[in-house]
Amino acid sequence: MRILITGAAGFLGSHLCDRFIGEGHTVVGMDNLITGSMDNIAHLFGHDRFSFIKHNVSQYIYVPGPLDAVLHFASPASPIDYLEHPIPTLKVGSLGTHNTLGLAKQKGARYLLASTSEVYGDPQVNPQPESYWGHVNPIGPRGVYDEAKRFSEAMTMAYHRYHGLETRIVRIFNTYGPRMRLNDGRAVPNFIYQALTGQPITVYGRGAQTRSFQYYSDLIEGLYRLLHSDESLPVNIGNPDTEMTVMELAEMVVELAGSQSPVICIEPTDDRIVDDPQVRRPDITRAREILGWEPRVPVADGLRETIEYFRNRL
Ligand SMILES: NC(=O)c1ccc[n+]([C@@H]2O[C@H](COP(=O)([O-])OP(=O)(O)OC[C@H]3O[C@@H](n4cnc5c(N)ncnc54)[C@H](O)[C@@H]3O)[C@@H](O)[C@H]2O)c1
Repeated sequence: MRILITGAAGFLGSHLCDRFIGEGHTVVGMDNLITGSMDNIAHLFGHDRFSFIKHNVSQYIYVPGPLDAVLHFASPASPIDYLEHPIPTLKVGSLGTHNTLGLAKQKGARYLLASTSEVYGDPQVNPQPESYWGHVNPIGPRGVYDEAKRFSEAMTMAYHRYHGLETRIVRIFNTYGPRMRLNDGRAVPNFIYQALTGQPITVYGRGAQTRSFQYYSDLIEGLYRLLHSDESLPVNIGNPDTEMTVMELAEMVVELAGSQSPVICIEPTDDRIVDDPQVRRPDITRAREILGWEPRVPVADGLRETIEYFRNRL
């Protein structure tokens, strides 16, 4: 296959490039580097089945040659990033999704949208099945991300229903691993950075919010299977067995990093925790049934590998 991956220089996009190149496919990476880094794909330059186009997908997209699949992963993804870039986030979810869907239609390519568990907002059911419609504040600061992704799902379904495009939608739950930015503000890199540099680990509020953490390699396997499946309705991909409080995560990172950092609670005064989901755990029944997939990497193993990655980069 010849595949376009948008957001290719980001954390997940770059791992996807590796997977598809590794499987013998040809990859065209596209990114405008708003939150990504060329370091993540530097090792692919010079590979005869990899090419890169620096481009903002919220503007008209031109890709010469045939495409068999379009994987739309471009979007700021961490709260710090989308609060800093609210309008580009809304644009990449709306205009960027429209442009990439149009490209897929023109090329007769299969389309995969990276959606998110944020479409469930601050959920009133736990765990969250795909049938749950969510509890999102459209006008809160996080609305720029959540509503952009909800719109992108609606647009993807419309292309599927109206144009008969072959589409896939993955709702990704918190994923971590090598190639995240140390300063992207998400809990895992934040805590690891603080632990490795001997700073206090800062937990927001009382740290009682729960998250379920999935290692990137499990996600990539799920995405690969989803693309090759026939499923056009959304599928959750996440790790339900790792639900823990943010406080528990902080303590685990300190221990695994062999750090002396204390864990302290802070009350941010900015928008970071407005409408912060209090619980988050995927129901992965559909992924199990449709894809025969389930996560395999225990959280301690994934965290150890991620800590080593960050240790080598400090
Ligand atoms: N990591 C997670 O836990 C998670 C969870 C749910 C959903 N997702 C989704 O997965 C995708 C990738 O997330 P990530 O964690 O790798 O984030 P990331 O910030 O590392 O990667 C996103 C990439 O998209 C690029 N990008 C953003 N806007 C663009 C535009 N207009 N044109 C071209 N490129 C653009 C950025 O430069 C970056 O390289 C996102 O769509 C995100 O919403 C991630």
